[in-house]
Amino acid sequence: MKDTSGKISGFSKLSAAEKRRTIAEHCLGNAEDSGQFEAFHFADEALQQKFEQFSENTLTNHALPFGVIPNVLVDDKLYHVPAVVEESSVVAAASKAASFWYDRGGFKTIAQESIKNGQVYFEWFDDVEWLRNNKSTFFDQLAESTAELTNNMEKRGGGIRSFLLEQMPGISKNTLKLTVEVNTADSMGANFINSLLETIATEIPVFAQKNNRKAPEVLMAILSNYTPKNFVTMQVAAPIEQMTWSKLYSPEIFAKRFVQAVNIANTDVSRAVTHNKGIMNGSDAVILATGNDFRAAEAAAHAFAARNGSYASLSEAVIENGYFSMKLTLPVALGTVGGLTKLHPTAALALNMLGNPGADELMKIVASAGLANNFAAVASLVTTGIQRGHMKLHLDNILSAEKASPTQIKAAKVWFTDKTVSVSAVREFLANSR
Ligand code: MEV
Repeated sequence: MKDTSGKISGFSKLSAAEKRRTIAEHCLGNAEDSGQFEAFHFADEALQQKFEQFSENTLTNHALPFGVIPNVLVDDKLYHVPAVVEESSVVAAASKAASFWYDRGGFKTIAQESIKNGQVYFEWFDDVEWLRNNKSTFFDQLAESTAELTNNMEKRGGGIRSFLLEQMPGISKNTLKLTVEVNTADSMGANFINSLLETIATEIPVFAQKNNRKAPEVLMAILSNYTPKNFVTMQVAAPIEQMTWSKLYSPEIFAKRFVQAVNIANTDVSRAVTHNKGIMNGSDAVILATGNDFRAAEAAAHAFAARNGSYASLSEAVIENGYFSMKLTLPVALGTVGGLTKLHPTAALALNMLGNPGADELMKIVASAGLANNFAAVASLVTTGIQRGHMKLHLDNILSAEKASPTQIKAAKVWFTDKTVSVSAVREFLANSR
């Protein structure tokens, strides 16, 4: 029998079918089990091949539910927002909050900026003061060297916005950080920024040589996923008496409890992380649906949440002059052209559902979905608790996994109204009702 316990060699050179067979042999016990991967392939061969090209070593497709958050009113424009997420309560919670806020004027943009950035880190072995004094010539030469790259971006309204040169004494007296701020129009711009920075990186030694300075040494050039100047702030607001979310509390008490909960997330890291996770539930679902990079969004959001030195809530809520209001600032770099946005058929469909927005518009929708989920989560926490809603969906999932009949589903929903839902309890109920 073949030994399948060791390192696999030459894997990258195998064809897709061979890779599936090899992994089936190593991980599932038998090469013939590669059919378990193929079972999830698209019937359309060309589409399957397209998917396999998105990433390396693709074995199969991994499906997630593609849902919709209906009635998200953003700056008076109505969207039915596509959301891709595996967690059962996310879409339901966002939908409930979106509908609530639709009736109260919806989500409003109160601030937005679209400046991304990247850095070149290098050692300047010559006089740093000289470089500082000549920085405008330095920046002009760097900008000129990128003209070929920036020409097209400028036609689309983007391009380089500024340069900033800083010393990094914590590393060494020679280490410099050059920040380049850019606008990337409707593209996420990762490739554009990285190409720009790498071009600039090769120009730094050229500049030194032209000016008879010692040869500098470039360490690295890379975009930053920390995008505090690429943000949007969305807000919801309503007179206190309209805060009729809960039957358990009057609008005034509900709003007070709500604000208290957000204040706790602003001061207590234990709560802040979960609170922000609730925001990312909604935002990531739209980011994923539209073929954008949710890891970049997560990294940026959490760094931004810690911008004042301790990790805090990304959203705020206040009661002022008889009004409840809540706002969320989300730094999020998105694209609606390039990347996977048009290549991935359901990402293209998602963007189509939204009327093919530009990147700035998509940022508002993404932040509104985050705010909707955040509002729904905190509203549940300070009223019924979240388990009631979660358990309803948990029950639906278990009933579907257990292949319950429509009559059993109906009966189970009544039976579990006041009982704890668990797989074993549902199985027992189904066994007794068969
Ligand atoms: C669950 O996915 C998200 C919540 O925990 C968020 C929150 O606590 O605010 C409900």
